[in-house]
Amino acid sequence: MEVVPRQPTIGAEICGLDLSQRLPDAVFDDVYEALLDYKIVFFRDQRLTRDQQIAFGQRFGPLEINPFRPRGKSQPELQIINNDKDNPVLSTDVWHADLTFRKKPTKLTILRCLEVPACGGDTLWADMCAAYDGLDQCLRERITELGAIHDFRNFRVLYKDDPAQLRRMEEQFPNPTHPVVITHPDTLRRVLFVNRQFTVRIAGMSGDESRQLLEVLYNQAGVPEYQFRLRWEPGTIAVWDNRSCQHYAVNDYYPNRRRMERVAVAGDVEPFFAPTARPSRPYASIRRVHAGEGLS
Ligand code: SIN
Repeated sequence: MEVVPRQPTIGAEICGLDLSQRLPDAVFDDVYEALLDYKIVFFRDQRLTRDQQIAFGQRFGPLEINPFRPRGKSQPELQIINNDKDNPVLSTDVWHADLTFRKKPTKLTILRCLEVPACGGDTLWADMCAAYDGLDQCLRERITELGAIHDFRNFRVLYKDDPAQLRRMEEQFPNPTHPVVITHPDTLRRVLFVNRQFTVRIAGMSGDESRQLLEVLYNQAGVPEYQFRLRWEPGTIAVWDNRSCQHYAVNDYYPNRRRMERVAVAGDVEPFFAPTARPSRPYASIRRVHAGEGLS
């Protein structure tokens, strides 16, 4: 297996693996380590069935069922993304990490490309560790102990004619408050954890102050130096870490078709902030962090 970085801190291609086969444990560990390092890794020319995609996802942990997206009939953990002129994009063309309106947001996502237009339909990811590191010190200190409220807001449109079902969804997903800056549970790096799609307000702040601050923080995902952009091909599989990056699916291919299937690994911890855990750059320190070193 070879890990080929495509940007300095985010995005790496992994070559030499066939994901339709069960990977030996040591190889799987190396894939996970590359994922922690590069936040999104991708594999070309994979020929997986739905069951094989599910089995690959389950190696990382139990899969979640997306409450808002169309699902596979006999495989509810499989989410179908199928956009063309009759099925407009819903909310993937906004910077976000997946399902941060859950108490335990999605851990990882595994997206498999089935069909892409001749051009367009790329996905971008932004490194939210680099985004945090890039803030000036005053702002980092200002936001470090704040919490922010998350909501499934763009999906509310699905229930515009069914207020009773909307109320049921609100009961199922009461707005959690997550730290604005979280500690990544595996790398112990700090991550800027607000996103334009689901973060609605800074807790305990006036509406105006919260809006102004969130606007500055949301915009960090748009900084090109923090980004990686993937041109999809049928057979490309991307795996990303929702705890350390955000993504944006470019909505530029109407009326053509783009078809993807994905599974997502359920979150296993509530996002937290650990004041003493802040390993410094460079990212190569991740191996040492696993060995219990690198903490300040
Ligand atoms: C998503 O937002 O999870 C979908 C990403 C994509 O379709 O590229």
